[in-house]
Amino acid sequence: MATDDQIILARTHLASARNVTVLTGAGISADSGVPTFRGADGLWRTYRAEDLATPEAFARDPRLVWEWYNWRRELITTKSPNPAHDTLVELEQRWTDRMWLITQNVDGLHRTAGSQRLSEIHGNIWKVRCTGCGVISENREIPLPILPTCRLCHALLRPHIVWFGESLWEEDLRRCDEALRACDLFLVIGTSGVVYPAAGFASVAKEVGALVIEINLESTPQSNLVDLSLRGRAKDLVPLLL
Ligand code: APR
Repeated sequence: MATDDQIILARTHLASARNVTVLTGAGISADSGVPTFRGADGLWRTYRAEDLATPEAFARDPRLVWEWYNWRRELITTKSPNPAHDTLVELEQRWTDRMWLITQNVDGLHRTAGSQRLSEIHGNIWKVRCTGCGVISENREIPLPILPTCRLCHALLRPHIVWFGESLWEEDLRRCDEALRACDLFLVIGTSGVVYPAAGFASVAKEVGALVIEINLESTPQSNLVDLSLRGRAKDLVPLLL
């Protein structure tokens, strides 16, 4: 567990930081009751995220992939932001245009909490995209039809999510790069650090001379690289930083 000294040090670094960039992963939402991907509760039926969140899986069996997303949407809709999400909103309010949040989470809980300066680099589970005409729309229907179709062109809809094997959106990559190169403090919360490009962001921040602080229940492949690694739950530790 993080010691008092570590927490005081992290607070001091944050208090003196000019530009802060934050990266979050499933661990921050775990404290709201959303299962992580690689934890013990990460499986749906017998499938891992890597089995279903791919263009190939969707081409092979769109019904199965939509069933999984329907299940996740039903689960997420019952969850609310926790104190870690709320603290990041406060951070944004205090640091204003000197703070940027990058999240890998598609659950939308940062937006629900009130974060506005953020890149949802893996997309958002409450958005759908037409496989025919490409139109993106917000969709909060629960449950969705097993095979939802576009109102405009009637082609199959897909979740507006970046799947394994797909590239991040150009605009998000540009914004993240800008935020990483501008920051003097990079805070990494609740991510296993195995999925790229986000897994490489701590190295980029280090290259530009930023101080990197990690908050996670466990050690990660990034733990040796960071300046300060705080062990514990996001909902307990993140609020202590302000
Ligand atoms: N507080 C802090 N950290 C936590 C907590 C918690 N309460 N609970 C779990 N963690 C940590 C775990 O120790 C783990 O390191 O959160 C991390 C969750 O890791 P993953 O499940 O791999 O989630 P994430 O890193 O966000 O996954 C990245 O992979 O499946 C894809 O696209 C999906 O965005 C996702 C990406």
